[in-house]
Amino acid sequence: SDLHRRVLNYSFLALVGIGGYHSVGTMFSSLEPPKKARLDAATFVALDALPLNEPAFFTWQKKPICILKQEATAAYEPKRDVKIGEYIYTIMIGICTHLGCVPKYSASTKEFICPCHSGVFDEKGHPLRGPVTKSLVTPPFKVQNDYLVIGEAGEEYLHMAKKA
Ligand code: FES
Repeated sequence: SDLHRRVLNYSFLALVGIGGYHSVGTMFSSLEPPKKARLDAATFVALDALPLNEPAFFTWQKKPICILKQEATAAYEPKRDVKIGEYIYTIMIGICTHLGCVPKYSASTKEFICPCHSGVFDEKGHPLRGPVTKSLVTPPFKVQNDYLVIGEAGEEYLHMAKKA
């Protein structure tokens, strides 16, 4: 049908558009690598899609990111948590603050256990045992509509960084 053909045409245009954008992006990236890198680096996380009371895992700039969503009745730490609507979110880079290994999450103990020197963090990234002394780091983030944008420093993150 006519409508069908029009829809096809539009999707073809969209593909061409994206292809064009990418080649322009590539062209400019040689001129402006830092800016391009930053744009590509953001990871978008839909707040609604996050499970409650168990960490969810993402990647940002090849780094593991872990987000714990809890109800507003959970303990709230202004330095580590952000309140959005009825929930509290703890956003962490899943890299051990001892020497940079990637801890594994154990759902049974609700701990992050580092395979390198047995450092242990609790589910909100606080050091518990072993050679670890610093909490898991909060990546820059911003709240945009119903999303967390990991990799861009928004108001909430800057507030948090000030309190840290
Ligand atoms: Fe994780 Fe040493 S790197 S405990």
